[in-house]
Amino acid sequence: MALIQLVYTSTATRPMRDADLEQIIASAHHKNPHNGITGMLFYADGHFMQVLEGEEAQVDATLERVRLDPRHTDITVTERSVISERGFAEWSMGLKRAGPDEAQADIAASRAVVVPNSLAAAILGELTRSAG
Ligand SMILES: Cc1cc2nc3c(=O)[nH]c(=O)nc-3n(C[C@H](O)[C@H](O)[C@H](O)COP(=O)(O)O)c2cc1C
Repeated sequence: MALIQLVYTSTATRPMRDADLEQIIASAHHKNPHNGITGMLFYADGHFMQVLEGEEAQVDATLERVRLDPRHTDITVTERSVISERGFAEWSMGLKRAGPDEAQADIAASRAVVVPNSLAAAILGELTRSAG
C-alpha cells in the first residue's frame, strides 16, 4: 500500500469561529490516529485547505467522509502524490487559522517541509482570493 499525501481546498458554508474549528479538530483527533492519518488544516477567510497523509485507502476513506460534511462545500483536490515520508508526522491534525499574511507564513513553512512550490502558490491564491 502506498503512503500518499492529498491536499484539497474547500469553501466554508458559514464563517467558522474558533469553537467551530475546535470541534472539527476534535473529530479529527478522535478518528485520525485510529486511521493512521496525519496532516494539517488551514482556515482563512472562509476557505479551508487540508493536507491528509496516510495509507491510500485510509486517506480516500477519510476524504469521502469529510466530503459529505455540510460545514463546507466545493471540495477540490489539488494534489495527490505518493510520498516517502510524512510532512506532518507529528500532527494527528494540526490547525492553523490565519489571515492572508499568516496564511502566507504558514504555507511558506509547510512548503519547506513537503508541499511543492507550485502547490503552495495555488493554495495561497485560493486562501487569499476572497480577501481581495
Ligand atoms: C474542513 C473539515 C476537515 C475535517 N477533517 C477531518 C479529519 O481529518 N478527520 C476526521 O475524521 N474528520 C474530519 N472532519 C470531520 C468529518 O467531516 C466528520 O464530521 C467527523 O469525522 C465525524 O466524526 P464524529 O462522529 O466523531 O463527530 C473534518 C470536517 C471538516 C469540515
